[in-house]
Amino acid sequence: MEVKTSFLNNEIDTNSPNKNIVPLTTIIDSTNKLSIGGCYLDDLVKKYDSPLYILDEITLRNSCRAYKKALEKYYPGSSLPIYASKANSSLFMSNLVSSEGFGLDAVSEGELLTALKGGVPNEKIVFHGNNKSDKEIEFAVKNKIKVIVDNEYDLKRLEEISDSLNYDLEIMIRFTPGIECHTHEYIKTGSFDSKFGFGIESLSKIFEVISKTKHIKLTGIHAHIGSQIFELEPHNDLGVIMVNVILEAKKFNHNIKELNVGGGLGIKYTQEDDPPSIDEWIKTVSLSVVKACKKNNLNLPILMCEPGRSIVSTAGVTIYKIGSFKEIPGIRTYLSVDGGMSDNPRPITYQSNYSACLVKNPLDINPKNKFTIAGKHCESGDILFKELELGNCKTGDLICVFGTGAYNNSMSSNYNRIPKPAAILVCNGESEIIQIRESPYDLLKYDVLPDRFIGQS
Ligand code: LLP
Repeated sequence: MEVKTSFLNNEIDTNSPNKNIVPLTTIIDSTNKLSIGGCYLDDLVKKYDSPLYILDEITLRNSCRAYKKALEKYYPGSSLPIYASKANSSLFMSNLVSSEGFGLDAVSEGELLTALKGGVPNEKIVFHGNNKSDKEIEFAVKNKIKVIVDNEYDLKRLEEISDSLNYDLEIMIRFTPGIECHTHEYIKTGSFDSKFGFGIESLSKIFEVISKTKHIKLTGIHAHIGSQIFELEPHNDLGVIMVNVILEAKKFNHNIKELNVGGGLGIKYTQEDDPPSIDEWIKTVSLSVVKACKKNNLNLPILMCEPGRSIVSTAGVTIYKIGSFKEIPGIRTYLSVDGGMSDNPRPITYQSNYSACLVKNPLDINPKNKFTIAGKHCESGDILFKELELGNCKTGDLICVFGTGAYNNSMSSNYNRIPKPAAILVCNGESEIIQIRESPYDLLKYDVLPDRFIGQS
């Protein structure tokens, strides 16, 4: 068999997990068995079944520490990294990021609740969203969580609440900086034509409106330009634009003390991807803000950033079991696995690419063995990989897909009434459950058959 070099032979960059395809603790031992966090993947499936989401604690903590370290190194003022929990929200993730000194960004009552119950202090949580409900806004205010105002509707309701309670409310506002970046159309957020935030051209008017309120105090500005970004230039430009916005706010007597540049740093999903390191990204953002503040004689604001993907994606893998094969001679061979678009909707939504290998003999790759990896859902587009090169494999073998820690579990669904997988944490040879596998019976929990239909069929 012709042996091809695998991404598993890449050197591992421990300083910046987002620059690797695999979690930092990935090992292939002398018997050709794959382990992560000191746990053999086939043993984990024996214990927890498949499909299985796995998170590697060391990779998660290294990612958080890389952000903290870089902020200390390059930003002379105060700073706060904030985990964008939409990437992967759970009690465990809330607790872990908080233990690393991170704040947390939430966009719904569900994410807020998960953060609070997971142990994130309320003063380190920020609440985003372009259409927050009254209930969500009240929940945030009651828990003294800072709201990032996205539009005039948010502002109006916060003003009503603060007036009725007769107390001062600190807010941040989100604006769209008009920066284009190269990423998928659906995950761009900073261009002028975006549903998020105030247009930059409307800021003076908003600053004036806020200055006339009785109890609203504008303390911070926020912008997020998109996700899975490999260029540094957009974030360099963003720093300058944001400092200009602080100057504009000053004209209306708003003293902006917090500057939040959002998230967006990309990760390496495949050999072709070459994202900047966490260090380079923070360096770019920090130097740009520091330089612009110096030039304008401004005190340094508290620098906040909101990474999601680059904290959790590389730490996560998903294991699937191979089921059926279908060979269409001269065209392709479909290999179906026991999960798919319900546990990872990214390929069908954004045409995302991943890297994967067999759990047994992962380094043996036969370029003649090209498979199209199909999910089990009733949808032709439920394809996880087109033409993936694997070694020889058969029904019952396991496949490990890398880089699935972000926007997989959090975007999962129950399409075709498929229960969500279990999620486990691995560290130092131990595995712990962080999300219990659903059963089909769980999915019946919220269905109601009205009494008059009972016994009718
Ligand atoms: N802050 C805000 C306001 C955001 O909207 C986002 C992501 C982040 C921070 C975190 O961005 P990150 O560091 O993860 O790039 N579902 C898509 C990604 C959507 C990102 C939405 N906002 C995907 O699977 O690629």
